[in-house]
Amino acid sequence: MTNLSFIYNRKSVRQFKDIPVKKDDILEIIKAGTYAPSPKHQQNWHFVVLQNKEVIGEMAKIVTESHKKIGQLAKNEKDFKKHMSVINYYTCFKDAPVVILVYGSEYKMIEYSILKENNAPKEILDVLLSPQSAAQGIGAAVENILLAATEMGYGSCYMTGPTHAKIDIENLIDFKKEGYELMSMIALGVAEDNTPKQPPRKPLEEVITFID
Ligand SMILES: Cc1cc2nc3c(=O)[nH]c(=O)nc-3n(C[C@H](O)[C@H](O)[C@H](O)COP(=O)(O)O)c2cc1C
Repeated sequence: MTNLSFIYNRKSVRQFKDIPVKKDDILEIIKAGTYAPSPKHQQNWHFVVLQNKEVIGEMAKIVTESHKKIGQLAKNEKDFKKHMSVINYYTCFKDAPVVILVYGSEYKMIEYSILKENNAPKEILDVLLSPQSAAQGIGAAVENILLAATEMGYGSCYMTGPTHAKIDIENLIDFKKEGYELMSMIALGVAEDNTPKQPPRKPLEEVITFID
């Protein structure tokens, strides 16, 4: 039987041991990411690796502040508290020995440019954009990274939550790449013992339709 345990064993890990990850392992894991499919093979990704504990800690503070600031838009204290109760979802990278920031650039679709120049109706242009192909390519790369990390014995967590602080994060790490923006990040490291189990999946009947 096909052994897909590297898929079934992956889970989001949000607590890590204080053990560094070897540079060769980081490179191998990101290399796996680059073997993902991408729209028209544009490989619209760039990976920034953070390993400095102080920088990672500062990034968690920045994300917390940004989360608070957004939360202050809540109409009352109860809603603000509810908003703040999910802060760990935004900052659980804080104890990871490695955080990989995943930058993405636009998917350059020649068909779109041609139709736009020819004044195609907005509905048609919107349909072309609706698959959000650039983001799908990033997702494919991230999943490869998570699976490679699992197979190599590491824990990881795919995170988009912290990106609301992307401008402040970019200023903190002093990294900018023309045409690229922070799309997600991956917390990576040796998992703490007894981290929560993977949540159950919807039954297959609920998510598959066969059409004969
Ligand atoms: C696009 C995307 C964004 C996510 N963002 C976050 C995040 O910001 N913080 C977090 O803790 N988990 C995040 N997750 C992880 C999910 O919460 C997790 O995959 C889901 O609960 C299923 O659990 P599992 O990964 O253990 O199977 C994200 C997952 C995906 C695919």
